[in-house]
Amino acid sequence: MGIFNKKRGNWVVPKGQELTEMDKKILYYQNKGYTVPRRGLILTPGQIEGVRKAGVVNTGILDLVSEKIHAGMTTNEIDKLVYDYTIAHNATPATLNYVADEKSKLIFPKSCCVSINEVVCHGIPSDDEILEEGDIVNVDVTTILNGYYADASRMFIIGKTTPEKEKLVRVAKECLEIGMKVCEKPYVFVGDIGNAIQRHAHANGFSVVRDLCGHGVGLKFHEEPEVVHYGRKGTGMLLVPGMVFTIEPMINMGTWKVFVDSEDGWTVVTDDELPSAQWEHTFVMTENGVEILTY
Ligand code: MF3
Ligand code: CO
Ligand code: CO
Repeated sequence: MGIFNKKRGNWVVPKGQELTEMDKKILYYQNKGYTVPRRGLILTPGQIEGVRKAGVVNTGILDLVSEKIHAGMTTNEIDKLVYDYTIAHNATPATLNYVADEKSKLIFPKSCCVSINEVVCHGIPSDDEILEEGDIVNVDVTTILNGYYADASRMFIIGKTTPEKEKLVRVAKECLEIGMKVCEKPYVFVGDIGNAIQRHAHANGFSVVRDLCGHGVGLKFHEEPEVVHYGRKGTGMLLVPGMVFTIEPMINMGTWKVFVDSEDGWTVVTDDELPSAQWEHTFVMTENGVEILTY
């Protein structure tokens, strides 16, 4: 008799406990072989309120950056704005001294990521980097308040840029909005989001970064599921009420391929060094679809 390894279902209902409507829906998909969340990914209403409060501070930071950002400013000056506002609101910048992988012990030294033009993400603020007219700049901020995490980023155009770069920034924003539209009801899959985003990017002649993705967030900085921005419908994890996650498409003007700058181990750059744009929000899935927690 053969015996084989199989992954146990994520969704477990304790013995003797009556099935809720939500249990029934999730078990339906699980029994059909789809990937479903485990209970640990469902936040309580109290926890969701905690993330919402972190989101209010995070949004305040991005609004401040939006007000102050200008040509001639260094990226470290942006970082100082982020740090000071965060501390003044009794919060902590999640990226400051963040260790992405325990093995490499690589530490991110700043309070936000600032990624200019061909830098896709994880740009490290510096005194030597000065914003110039025509740059397209992503500022990505994650705030921890009372242990809850909110993560969002926006693009800023410095002065006037080229029509192509302007289109890239616009289409990347539309990709986030389209991902959100897919989530206007619960019980959709991560792959449904990715599929819609990929179609929109391609229809506009752009590509989608594959090496980095959105993620579960709220109780931790990075959690399941992986929210990929490309792929097939019905793949990836089922999104059910109570899950908190980001959508953060990185859209490239040229190739989707990227590399990490070996100088610092963080900065992600497009392989052809053509521009890239990204927008990000933190969302909570509800019975009526997603709600943005980082407005
Ligand atoms: N905020 C980024 C995200 O959207 C993560 C930055 S991690 C850092 O997931 F270490 F590079 F800062
Ligand atoms: Co982010
Ligand atoms: Co994120």
